[in-house]
Amino acid sequence: MRKKIVAGNWKMNKNIHESKELVLQLLNIYNSSKAEVIIAPPYLSLLSSIKILKNSSIEVAAQNMHYAESGAFTGEISGSMLKSIGVDTVILGHSERRAHFNETDEILAKKVDLALSKELRIIFCFGEELSDRKAGLENSVVKSQIKNVLFHLPATAWDQIVLAYEPVWAIGTGETASPDQAQDMHAFVRSLISLSYTKDLANKISILYGGSVKSSNAIEIFSKPDVDGGLIGGASLDADHFGMIINAI
Ligand code: PGA
Repeated sequence: MRKKIVAGNWKMNKNIHESKELVLQLLNIYNSSKAEVIIAPPYLSLLSSIKILKNSSIEVAAQNMHYAESGAFTGEISGSMLKSIGVDTVILGHSERRAHFNETDEILAKKVDLALSKELRIIFCFGEELSDRKAGLENSVVKSQIKNVLFHLPATAWDQIVLAYEPVWAIGTGETASPDQAQDMHAFVRSLISLSYTKDLANKISILYGGSVKSSNAIEIFSKPDVDGGLIGGASLDADHFGMIINAI
């Protein structure tokens, strides 16, 4: 069976004190879940979160990393640095990184290769803009995002890949893809993997949905057969809401 995952992407929210408070709240309300639970706080709060969660099954992921091993990249963080504090998962390809920091498919492919060489698991985000969907181009946009960044990988590398479909028009807007729209895209993505690799591999890949998932819509979205969980932004900043979304799965 595919792994169910609920991941919280805190983005640039919560200072170190607020982060500790939220992690402690999560620890208090969280017992266990059938899903794997991940939080992705800002870099500054990764280590303290890992320490607080060390006896819990909640995992801590980074929101980004650089594609180089080390060097003259002022302000950046490397995969080795993440590994050295106990981070095992990194989010790559978030649409905000693509839009505001000019991350291209080429850069993302380099990040993916470096992350895998460091044995970091990747939550790879992709998704179309509203204009793409209006033009009926969502499938071809998503296909090229995935193909350009991931299809050079050998089948064995896919053990370390989790996919996250995040239509840009649904991120932080309050507008969610309908459960059917999410299901259609997830099934399409699975068919792409099946064509380029094998059906067996396609059936093993967890594909998360992200974009205005809340406690009020999570059950409906998560009930779709090809939706294996969620990447949650805004609603992951509140322990009770995030807890309800975890329970929804
Ligand atoms: P949102 O963000 O849940 O606030 O829409 C999702 C994401 O960007 O991962």
